[in-house]
Amino acid sequence: MLNVKCVSKSFGGLQAVRNVDMTLREGEILGLVGPNGAGKTTLLNMISGVCRPDAGGIYFEEENITRLTLDAICKRGIAKTFQHPRSFPGLSAKEGVLISALYGNGHKPGMKQAQVEAIECLQRVGFPDEKLDCPLGTLNTIDLRKTQLARALASKPKMLLLDEIMTGLTPSEGKEAIKLIRSLRDEGLTILMIEHVMKIIMEVSDRVVVLDQGEKIAEGTPREVAADERVIESYLGEQYHFQEH
Ligand SMILES: Nc1ncnc2c1ncn2[C@@H]1O[C@H](COP(=O)(O)OP(=O)(O)OP(=O)(O)O)[C@@H](O)[C@H]1O
Ligand SMILES: [Mg+2]
Repeated sequence: MLNVKCVSKSFGGLQAVRNVDMTLREGEILGLVGPNGAGKTTLLNMISGVCRPDAGGIYFEEENITRLTLDAICKRGIAKTFQHPRSFPGLSAKEGVLISALYGNGHKPGMKQAQVEAIECLQRVGFPDEKLDCPLGTLNTIDLRKTQLARALASKPKMLLLDEIMTGLTPSEGKEAIKLIRSLRDEGLTILMIEHVMKIIMEVSDRVVVLDQGEKIAEGTPREVAADERVIESYLGEQYHFQEH
């Protein structure tokens, strides 16, 4: 469904992503992990059109989307959450999602229908009803992330790119989030997720890709990747305990 071919991206003298290849099959959940600064967000930004690769190509359902705008890519069916959401602090939670329901993917429902869809999406992700009218700028991080996910869903995507939406969740919130991700996949969504919480990645991913200093250093099933020497050395060994649950 998605084919990332040898993409690279530099910022000034810093090479954030270097010759990365990656594929996603329809209906798959792919976990993207790696240390801070590994290039994970940059890779997602290139897929979603937030920034453009210096070299390489990105193909979605066989179409070359490398040079398309953010808007055009969203209309093709790729929706992304932001790691540090900042847009529209003055809009209410409901309005933030409404924009996406109205304009996200070109199907253009009427205002009434879009409002219903926006609220459904917020409820789907467990956003508290009593905060529907709160300005986005006043929400705590967890609720803000829920609005991000709801906003992504409201554009009725085929593929979801999730950037650390589960960081900071309590274990029970984490379980709920895993259930939600699985149910979204069961409904036909393809999911590419960056996550630092290894337990979640291990539990939910069909495959895992590991980046380190802009390069892909491993790829495989969660079990294969967890046993990879380079991965343990560069990432897991230092920071995480690996446990099977
Ligand atoms: N817009 C930008 N301008 C300059 N440098 C950038 C920009 N975006 C990212 N970088 C740099 O590129 C490298 C990769 O950053 P990126 O945000 O992709 O990493 P990450 O894997 O998502 O890290 P984290 O786990 O901390 O979110 C970092 O060194 C970062 O400082
Ligand atoms: Mg990041």
